[in-house]
Amino acid sequence: MAVHDSQEMVLITGASGELGQALIKELGNRNSAVIAADVRSLPPELTRYCSVVLEGERGDVTTSELGYALVEYPITRIFHLAAVLSTAAERDPVRAHQINVQGTLNILELAQAIGQRYERTVQVIFPSTIAVYGFASVHDKHQAGKVTEDNALEPRTLYGVTKLHCERLGIYYSHYYKQLSGEQSWVDFRALRFPGLISAETLPTGGTSDYAPEMLHAAARGVPYLCFVRPDTQIPFMAMPDGVRALLLLAQAERSRLSRQVYNIGAFAPTAAEIATTVAEYFPSASITFQVDTRRQAIVDSWCADVNDNAARRDWGWEPQYDYVRAFAEYLVPAIKQRYATVTTENV
Ligand code: SER
Repeated sequence: MAVHDSQEMVLITGASGELGQALIKELGNRNSAVIAADVRSLPPELTRYCSVVLEGERGDVTTSELGYALVEYPITRIFHLAAVLSTAAERDPVRAHQINVQGTLNILELAQAIGQRYERTVQVIFPSTIAVYGFASVHDKHQAGKVTEDNALEPRTLYGVTKLHCERLGIYYSHYYKQLSGEQSWVDFRALRFPGLISAETLPTGGTSDYAPEMLHAAARGVPYLCFVRPDTQIPFMAMPDGVRALLLLAQAERSRLSRQVYNIGAFAPTAAEIATTVAEYFPSASITFQVDTRRQAIVDSWCADVNDNAARRDWGWEPQYDYVRAFAEYLVPAIKQRYATVTTENV
């Protein structure tokens, strides 16, 4: 592997997922030595940004192989993105727990082991989620308004349960690791609670906030879309470039400036009807019909309507670059038109 002394070495797990793909390009352009790991194959056009690509079993966070393969690498930062999202996790909770929790434990162990070997802190940046919040009714959710980090932590999905647990595992590894033997902790764990992400380049796999990106991509491809939630459904969303920016901003923040380890980040919180209207404005031939899946609806109904992200704004200068209007006008619509103008229907 060709790595130059001046390059920071970064591991990205779940590298073939939506966030991973966007982050690889950004880090590759910033001259980091990227190690990309995923059980799935990395899209070939991304391999040029990576120093090492671990795919299949070699990229699987649930086995100890990944740790054995990487413990000698002087990695300073890990973006641990590998996870099963909310809808997919409900379909196979045991597998989701294995990937989300055992996978995170393995990565924290790896970070601690690398830190011990090189006697320096290893950062673990972790994408958590609005699914850690849980409301008993739509009324309660709207009453709560913009939820702060320490409220309503009553997740109703396996996904939310595992993410909340992993937030706490990360805090444990940062401060209390093997506390009885006085072991030094080498992990600097930081987490972001992401809203639903909308990318112009990729579609999510197995989430429940997927109706927003699916609506937009279907309209751009000229195919009809059946939206599985009610028009009045409201949760927070964010444009993908802001999601990547948030990961990098939090990673670069001075540790002494962080008053907490887990942060909300917000951008905009439209209803499904508002998204459908905006999509139809940009794609007048769009066909969007609401056909509610009551079980998936119950999941988004339990999530917060919006987040209070004051702590992130205060501690590390978080501010989204894309509000709702700008996200569509300057990122989503131009980029998605370009995407579907240049791909054939086979690789859509
Ligand atoms: N996008 C996630 C999901 O739908 C929620 O954070 O599962």
